[in-house]
Amino acid sequence: MTGSPTSSDAARPVDEARIAELVDAALAAIAAAGTTAELKQARVAHAGDKSPLALANRAIGSMPPDQRKAVGRVVGQARGRVNQGLAARQAELEAAELEATLLAERADVTLPVELHPVGAMHPITALIDDMCDVFVAMGWEVAEGPEVEAEWLNFDALNFTPDHPARFLSDTLFVEPVDHHKLLRTQTSPVQMRAMLSRELPVYVVSPGKVYRADEYDATHLPVFHQLEGLAVDKGITMGHLKGTLDHLARSMFGDVRTRLRPHYFPFTEPSAEMDLECFVCHGESVGNPDRPCRTCRSEGWIEWGGCGVVNPRVLRAAGIDTSVYSGFAFGMGVDRTVMFRNNAPDLRDFVEGDVRFPRSLQGGAR
Ligand code: FA5
Ligand code: MG
Repeated sequence: MTGSPTSSDAARPVDEARIAELVDAALAAIAAAGTTAELKQARVAHAGDKSPLALANRAIGSMPPDQRKAVGRVVGQARGRVNQGLAARQAELEAAELEATLLAERADVTLPVELHPVGAMHPITALIDDMCDVFVAMGWEVAEGPEVEAEWLNFDALNFTPDHPARFLSDTLFVEPVDHHKLLRTQTSPVQMRAMLSRELPVYVVSPGKVYRADEYDATHLPVFHQLEGLAVDKGITMGHLKGTLDHLARSMFGDVRTRLRPHYFPFTEPSAEMDLECFVCHGESVGNPDRPCRTCRSEGWIEWGGCGVVNPRVLRAAGIDTSVYSGFAFGMGVDRTVMFRNNAPDLRDFVEGDVRFPRSLQGGAR
């Protein structure tokens, strides 16, 4: 810093020339300050309480009265010039410093940004949670079974005859070596037997999971899909309990949807039925109407949602249950088809083709 006053300056007499020198030194120091921090030092040195100008001002009081007025005016003007110089330089330096900060912190909003998209639960996983919640709220348990399953649990224990076509290699994916009788489960129904063998009665369990079939690949079929199995075994269980439970599930999932129970055959339930949902795309208008075909329901007006029935007493007996006291109902609903209906997705193939735009496009969105 230039122009710092020395202690000997203070001892010099207060006259006009001396005051002018002090002002020149102060203005030189102010001009030389390159930052507000340096200007602060110049302010202390040239305009502070101990600066020569302040001391000169104080010395006026001890001067002869006839000199006080003239010297007072000179010192006052001098201090005024120094203060003005300080204020002007302060404003200049602050503006320059602000400009430098803005330049240094400049953000180019036109630069491409790196996006970190947040993942979401797959719609099927989210729906499995929602379906299980409906049953947990009624006091049911959630149980899981293995995807590589014993042929006995997937077929024999469920009353499939040894020559049942479902066991053919063309329908079922066996795990090598085939004579170990292990397969990729074709349904979640083997969990029924596992649940009965591992629990005390009564049993109320739902079991979600993946199943595998050498099946077609079209709008409503995938070779790997998901089912939600349900099994209730208690005293006095009837088909009426089954229908009430599935109607409750359908209302919880879809609100106001038309359903129908269609007689069917499963070796492990008797009587058996399949529950259909009215097609959410054509609402039945494609039926018998070749001008308006519907590829989602293949113009049938209904889409099969799941199979169900009263548990065949042979299955209960295989699990060691006394069928004169206990009866049960069971169902296996397609989870993928439930998402189709709930989220208005007309083609199941979109679920497995991995296009990230798909879950975002679902009605109701991904979560
Ligand atoms: C069964 O798998 C029986 N285990 C259901 C059952 C359980 C009946 C308990 C009685 C008692 P089905 O093969 O119909 O039944 O399949 C059940 C549901 O899975 C179908 O209604 C459908 O919603 C779904 N599903 C079947 N095949 C496919 C597939 N390839 N792709 C997508 N969903 C399918
Ligand atoms: Mg079926």
